[in-house]
Amino acid sequence: MKKIAVFTSGTDAPGMNACIRAAVRSANYYGLKTYGILRGYEGMINGDIIEMDDLSVSNIIQKGGTILKCSGSSAFKTKEGRLKAYENLKEHGIDGLIAIGGNGTFKGAEVFYNEFKVPCVGIPATIDNNLVGTDFTIGYDTAVNTALNAIDRLRDTADSHERVFFIEVMGRDTGFIAIWSAIAGGADLAILPERKKSIHEIAQIFKHNPKNTSPSHIIIVAEETDVNRAQVVADEVQKFLPELDTRVSTLGHIQRGGEPSAADRVLACQLGLGAVEGLLSGKKNDMVGIINENIHYTPFSICTTKKKPIKKEILKMIDILSGKHHSYSLNVN
Ligand code: F6P
Repeated sequence: MKKIAVFTSGTDAPGMNACIRAAVRSANYYGLKTYGILRGYEGMINGDIIEMDDLSVSNIIQKGGTILKCSGSSAFKTKEGRLKAYENLKEHGIDGLIAIGGNGTFKGAEVFYNEFKVPCVGIPATIDNNLVGTDFTIGYDTAVNTALNAIDRLRDTADSHERVFFIEVMGRDTGFIAIWSAIAGGADLAILPERKKSIHEIAQIFKHNPKNTSPSHIIIVAEETDVNRAQVVADEVQKFLPELDTRVSTLGHIQRGGEPSAADRVLACQLGLGAVEGLLSGKKNDMVGIINENIHYTPFSICTTKKKPIKKEILKMIDILSGKHHSYSLNVN
């Protein structure tokens, strides 16, 4: 292996730049010529390929977003698109890839490897932390801290006005951001896809905690596709308990931006180096991750199909520590 290319794909995550830097510098350390592909698979198809060296990744470790940009690519889902991508890689003599992204990125990488046999190591970077094969994904820690910062501020105003705040956080179809930010933020409830409870049961919590004994509440709600889930929950609860003064706050894409935390930067450095060393040791269709502080390589086929569970102990913790003995999820249409 002499020439490799690095790209970021799917949605961005804080720490991607630190990861690009680590991958490029590790590759240079091992004597590989390094390229960057702009806009993920789309750039691979369009030939947006640039040379990278140690200097081109200086002063980016602290920056959110990705200097290589990222996007989805419908063209890469077609055989013709992938062939074009392969031809562009061949033209540059690129014989290894480092794909920084999430589930969709690795699905694409797997198909591409099976067709064209260009070795690829994936690096998990998504705020959702929804990938097996690693304890944490790059960006998750920063996103949780961003959410937490907002929750702390909302708690101030919730307390002053004796209101119930329903705060919606991201996570795609998983509740990792929700459960961690709920625990760290001392929330009363976390409503997650991983736990199903009816709206009736959720409303009971307020009935059992009369307004004069616990006037302000923080309820963290994990997002759901195509609905403002926090608003739905708030509306339903309000129907049951019209006397509650409720507000909804949807944190949205703010969770994807900002300077990466120290934990995300260090993880990005470890995985960037681990990806290069993986490629050099013959890994070709795998994601690099860290489990119990050790580097692990897991086939894309596993990372893209297995669902990462939230540990039962973590779910239980919020029930105990909220003092309300309730942590519910939704099962309403
Ligand atoms: O995967 C990261 C993520 O931020 C999810 O938490 C969220 O559901 C999704 O991306 C939003 O995607 P988009 O930026 O395309 O709106």
